[in-house]
Amino acid sequence: MNDVEAYLAKLPWLAEEDMCTCMRYSLMGGGKRIRPVLALAAAETLGAQPLAILPAAAALELIHTYSLIHDDLPAMDDDDYRRGRLANHKMFGEGKAILAGAGLLTYAFELLSEPLPVSADQQLRVIREVAAAAGYVGMIGGQADDLTAEIKLNEGRDLSLAELEQIHRRKTGALLLASVRLGAMLGGGTDEQISALSAYARHLGLAFQIKDDILDLEEDSETLGKPAGSDLRRGKATYPALLGLPEAKMYLREQIRQAQAALSGLQGPVAFLADLADYIEQRHY
Ligand code: IPE
Ligand code: IPE
Ligand code: MG
Ligand code: MG
Ligand code: MG
Repeated sequence: MNDVEAYLAKLPWLAEEDMCTCMRYSLMGGGKRIRPVLALAAAETLGAQPLAILPAAAALELIHTYSLIHDDLPAMDDDDYRRGRLANHKMFGEGKAILAGAGLLTYAFELLSEPLPVSADQQLRVIREVAAAAGYVGMIGGQADDLTAEIKLNEGRDLSLAELEQIHRRKTGALLLASVRLGAMLGGGTDEQISALSAYARHLGLAFQIKDDILDLEEDSETLGKPAGSDLRRGKATYPALLGLPEAKMYLREQIRQAQAALSGLQGPVAFLADLADYIEQRHY
């Protein structure tokens, strides 16, 4: 986490460039850095040197930050606060916020192209996977379905649990899965190791968004650093909305349990990844 923070702080930006201020504002304004931490932890679990893949891990945080800037825009969730400060568009205006998101997304692919301790072929495979996870197969597709589901629910139409799960798997799960797989692939994992870590990440990814849905109801805005009750206000498709809070919590517990069970197939030191799953269930923001 400290390594990620230090790396992000030292990224070269053009000092006079207005756009850099706007991009850095959201990138450096807090954030748990879960995605890079997962990538580094997956590599370390396989016995690799995590710092060797830091640029690629940091790239995941740029993609994630871009998704948050766009997620908060009036045309999407219309939230005014993020990471304890004004949302990017409240600070710089919508036009600049859209560009800051695009700027972070493209910069991420510059970082993913930095030299890495794997063959060029392997690096290309990783870049392709991250692109797919961030795009219409993954996060963008999920965000689009999230908007459609919001309209559906507000019109009084039903949304099945299977549809909700697909939304969460795509909008949030896909990038978390890609983060773990990036670490596993760049860390030189075998097919078996990559597959065990992927199973862990699939459960963790779903758990992460279920917990995010629960936090929207249970915590206050100050703790969250973003507006509490936002999902409720907009009639969003969430696990508590479909299942009720107690059942959503039970489903979350089950996903965490399955994430941890998937780690038992690995030989390396899995305690950190197992603890990270507990943290994701218990976190307050
Ligand atoms: C929030 O992500 C948005 C979701 C995908 C649920 P995080 O909870 O990782 O937000 P930061 O990066 O810590 O601000
Ligand atoms: C967002 O989900 C997922 C993203 C891809 C950004 P949410 O809309 O629930 O995220 P928050 O609660 O605003 O952080
Ligand atoms: Mg959203
Ligand atoms: Mg949102
Ligand atoms: Mg949310």
